[in-house]
Amino acid sequence: MAISLFDIPLQHSHFREDFLKRVGEVLDSGQYILGKHVKEFEEAFAEFLDVDHAIGLNSGTDALFFALKLLDIGPGDEVICPAFGFIATVDVILRVGATPVLVDVDPVTYCIDPAKIEEAITEKTKVVIPVHLFGRACDMTRIMELAESKNFEVIEDVCQAAGSQVDEDFCGTFGRFGCFSFYPTKNLGGLGDGGMLVTKDKGLYEKALKLRDHGRSPITGDFEIIGYNSRLDVIQAVYLDMKIEDLEESNIDRIETARLYDRLFSGSEVVTPEFLDDTSHTYGLYTIQVRDRDRLQTFLKENGIGAGVYYRRGLHREPALEKLGLTRGPVPVTDALSRKVLSLPCYPSMKRLNVERVAEVVLDFLQRNESFDRRRR
Ligand SMILES: Cc1ncc(COP(=O)(O)O)c(C=O)c1O
Repeated sequence: MAISLFDIPLQHSHFREDFLKRVGEVLDSGQYILGKHVKEFEEAFAEFLDVDHAIGLNSGTDALFFALKLLDIGPGDEVICPAFGFIATVDVILRVGATPVLVDVDPVTYCIDPAKIEEAITEKTKVVIPVHLFGRACDMTRIMELAESKNFEVIEDVCQAAGSQVDEDFCGTFGRFGCFSFYPTKNLGGLGDGGMLVTKDKGLYEKALKLRDHGRSPITGDFEIIGYNSRLDVIQAVYLDMKIEDLEESNIDRIETARLYDRLFSGSEVVTPEFLDDTSHTYGLYTIQVRDRDRLQTFLKENGIGAGVYYRRGLHREPALEKLGLTRGPVPVTDALSRKVLSLPCYPSMKRLNVERVAEVVLDFLQRNESFDRRRR
């Protein structure tokens, strides 16, 4: 039986009937842009995170872009972010005219290394964007200490980590802003694009409400600033409002799958994500490191198993960015990881049998490889 990297229809199947009923209500309501449904989801999201304000947007990318705009970041400013990650984090910095400074990540967490942030700070540094990668929380305690002592703002990229925590607090609630994505494969995935910006700052929240709706004040209806069209879609809001009720449980499900993989791989040469505690990793992706990664990916495919490479190269090596010289020096951890990482299927309601099958095929490949290597020696 085929096992895909993400089984999104399986995740949606629990909500199908309730969702179709609610879509009927939206159809009859005549309210298709913003309004009650978006507001209800924003309130549920803010309550879940225990944060004051949440603003529904059309994507996680716009959440990051708006966060930078709201802090007036622009030409001459430097924004530090990790070299290992997704391009959206960097392209928004370029879009506001600021300079991205890409630094290396920690070899254990794969998240931005606070020591590398410290090395990269200059008098132009205005913002640091920690990315909670694959569901793993960054070292927010150290990063917030640095923010305080070095005087920069923190915008958390939580696109891959909805529901991850540092002790009692949720990722996205430490910095000035938290930016979330509802891209279908995410921990809180919708049925298309969507995103959320959260903040404790009332003034910035009120400005964000205008920015997402062409600069229009929700109170006076006047166009008070130049804005954008970046409203969270009503159908997405209706769907996500149901799904958020299940987020904690579905994350626990992911964590249990990850623990099972950990056990199945223990004693082998597979480098599994380091277990630190129960809440700081929600396994948006279960990412291992192996030698011969590309051949293993092909072998898995031949056995009907989907696996993904996130990411095949550091952002400084992406064709769109490589000529810009965005690193200040070598980023060896990023370069090493990008040669070895492979993400395995890990999603809520994944059958134990399927997890065991994936692990069996991985271990079988490594064993064959080992005997092949021995024969060559
Ligand atoms: C780390 C990270 N940042 C930003 C984004 C952008 O989110 P969206 O696709 O909702 O624009 C993503 C989504 O893939 C992501 O993984």
